[in-house]
Formats: sequence, structure tokens, C-alpha cells
Amino acid sequence: MCIPGSYFHCFNEGKWGGLDGVCGVEFDKDDGIVKGVKGGWRERFEGFKNRLESREPLQYILGSWDFRTLNDITCRRPTLVPRPETEELCGWAIDFMNETGGEVICRKVLDVGTGTGCIGISMACEVQGVKVSGVEKDDNAKVLTEENVEAFKEQFGEGSSYEGVWYGGIEEYEEGGYDVIVSNPPYIPKRDMEGLEENVKGWEDHGALEGGEDGMDVIREILKYATERGGVKKGGVVFIEGDEGHPSMVEREAEGKGWKVEKRMDVRGIERFVKITI
Ligand SMILES: C[S@@+](CC[C@H](N)C(=O)[O-])C[C@H]1O[C@@H](n2cnc3c(N)ncnc32)[C@H](O)[C@@H]1O
Repeated sequence: MCIPGSYFHCFNEGKWGGLDGVCGVEFDKDDGIVKGVKGGWRERFEGFKNRLESREPLQYILGSWDFRTLNDITCRRPTLVPRPETEELCGWAIDFMNETGGEVICRKVLDVGTGTGCIGISMACEVQGVKVSGVEKDDNAKVLTEENVEAFKEQFGEGSSYEGVWYGGIEEYEEGGYDVIVSNPPYIPKRDMEGLEENVKGWEDHGALEGGEDGMDVIREILKYATERGGVKKGGVVFIEGDEGHPSMVEREAEGKGWKVEKRMDVRGIERFVKITI
């Protein structure tokens, strides 16, 4: 990925100029100071600058981003840009599957709310012999996931496949019997939407962000699907990312139901991940 204006691409093997010819930047041969911008790049830089000033996410401007082992997964407005904390959730699920893989209990995986497809595609790439499916309520996101599946299918683990994305809400999805569900659903409480940063609130799909009054609407639907509606097999596992406090709310909902709940913090110490064994 080339980030215009970044030093990383312009100092190479003791010489300045990596950007020269790539982004049209001219450097002084002796002191490496930027002297000017050639060709149509001045207009392009102006375009990038205007877009950044209007608070458009960098991921939309560049058109792609990295997620775990996926280099340059396509990102397009208004589908949610993959977040670093979701890499942590995904890593928890991947480690679990790779550790228990020998017992062949974790082979049918569902990603609820696929967005760019980053979670399910990572599972297919980093775990062998899994069959991944997705459920997505938004048409733009469904199409984007399908594009990204196509782009990364050569990198899938041995025997792994992506079965397809079902278009609709998890509340209507009828196929069941999964071993593992992984989801980063919309979870921002309604009252917090107004306070989001402009680069989120002004650009990303609100249907990917807002999770109702307490942010738990879609999380509750996933739990209902997994348990009452046969979404996961007995002994199956659900990994969910939520807002701060959501794992404890899930723990309370689990009382008396026989589910085993484990909570986990992100790298910043915010308790936002939960693993539920049904
Ligand atoms: C927070 S985004 C996560 C996207 C992607 N998984 C990621 O981590 O970057 C939530 C996604 O769930 C989808 N979604 C919202 N409500 C849903 C529902 N009831 N059932 C399935 N998908 C839903 C949204 O369209 C959005 O793409």
C-alpha cells in the first residue's frame, strides 16, 4: 500500500526517491528535501487532502486496508472499515479453532454481519478445513464480502472454503448446526451515536454501528439464534465483540441457562469480547 507523503516508501537502500515515479515527488539528490510534485500528482494530492479534510476515512480514500494476514482487503463506503479490536476477536476464535481442530468439532463457521468479510475470510485463511458462511443485512456489504472472498480464496487454508453470504438479518436466518459463530455486530447504544467522531458518523453505515437502546439488540438476536433456534450444535461456541460492559450483560443473560461465559479485554483494557459455550 502506498501512502502518499509517507517517508516509508521514499527512502530505500540509502537513496531518496522511492516515491519519485510512483507518486511524482521530486527530491533534492543531496539533502533529500522535497522540491516539488510532478505531473498530475499535485491535483491528486489536493484531492486526497480535500477528502481527508472532509473527515473521509483513510481506508475509503486508499480503497483498501490490512486486517490480520489479509493485505489490502477492499474497503468501500459505506461499509464499516475493519477495526484493530476485531483482529483481536478474530484471533481468539482462530486460536480456539486451531487448538481444538484435532477433535474435529470446529468445522462449520458462521460470520454474522460480514461487512468487508474480514472475519470470515481470515478464518478461512488461518484455519484449515473450515467451511465458512456469512449472514449480512446490507446489500453493499454483501457484495463487498463476495468481492473480497474472490480476491483471497487462493490464500485459504488447506481444505477450507467460503460457502457464501446469505442476504438478510440473523433474526430470519434458518440454516443452523454451526460449530462456531463469530460476530462483530452493530453495538453502539442509540444515545452514543451523536457523540461518535465525524469520520465514523458522517461516513460509515449507521446500520453497521447502532445496536438499539442499550446496544444489545443484534447481540440478543445472535444468542437467541445460537440457542433457541438451533444456530449452534451442543458444545458449540459463539464469539462476540461488543461495547464496554456488554460481556457482563451477556453473562447476566446467561444465568440459569447452562451456558459457559468467558469475558476478555482488548489491548486497551476495555472489556469487550465474550465467548459463550452453549
Ligand atoms: C460492526 S459491522 C461489522 C462488519 C465486519 N464484520 C467487521 O468486523 O468489520 C456490523 C455488520 O452487521 C450488519 N448487520 C446489521 N444488523 C444485522 C443483522 N440483524 N443481521 C446480520 N447482519 C447485520 C451490518 O450491515 C454490518 O455490515
